[in-house]
Amino acid sequence: MAVVAGNWKMHHGPRATRAFFSSLTLPSNAGSHEILVFPSAVSLAAAVAAPERDPLVQLGVQNIHWEDKGAFTGEISASMAREAGAAFTLVGHSERRHVFGETDEEVARKFKAARQAGLVPVACVGETLEERRANRVEEVILRQLDAVLSSVDSAEGRFLLAYEPVWAIGTGETATPADAAAAHGTLRARLDEALGPSRAARVPILYGGSVKPGNARELLTASNVDGVLVGGASLDAASFAALVEAAG
Ligand code: 13P
Repeated sequence: MAVVAGNWKMHHGPRATRAFFSSLTLPSNAGSHEILVFPSAVSLAAAVAAPERDPLVQLGVQNIHWEDKGAFTGEISASMAREAGAAFTLVGHSERRHVFGETDEEVARKFKAARQAGLVPVACVGETLEERRANRVEEVILRQLDAVLSSVDSAEGRFLLAYEPVWAIGTGETATPADAAAAHGTLRARLDEALGPSRAARVPILYGGSVKPGNARELLTASNVDGVLVGGASLDAASFAALVEAAG
């Protein structure tokens, strides 16, 4: 069982969302995997209502605020997203961290808010090229992971992790399976330590960064890679179906 997740970022309004679901034909292995799509918040309702959407495809939002309500113009809360049909939310995506300046502390607050509202968070971690060149991969991803783990105060509720090296996002540069295995191994060890092996084993770690139908299988066979979080190649229905097929 692998997780195949599509993060649509700022693509696909409601019309394109309906078109995606009307042309998506999942391959026959789809039932063996967990399939997630993260449309933009304004397209969530269209995805929820799309008559052709296979119920195997679960939906999430790309970001939430940590407060439940209040004077936060432009933001959406976890409970609002849940009410609108989201079951998952990304938190701490590298574009949120690096384009919008989200801190580890804010990501941890969002992670906690998601769990409190009954949304399953997918916490994203990953180093920049500069950090990789300075041999700081472990330090950076463990700092980001520890921030969210510090907000896990109960055994209730699932969460997922995604390792997305910033230098591999939208660049066509993919981490090698060995790079992914090394980072995922580091994250897995810390999860084991923090949660105990049986609880940690229930936290899938996804790889993201220029995943395509042609490289997904190789990445998914790397050690501790439990799924993929895909941007560009998830936007087209045929390509998304091919990603699911590649999960085997
Ligand atoms: P790309 O697959 O377009 O590189 O994006 C990866 C990503 O950021 C998914 O969250």
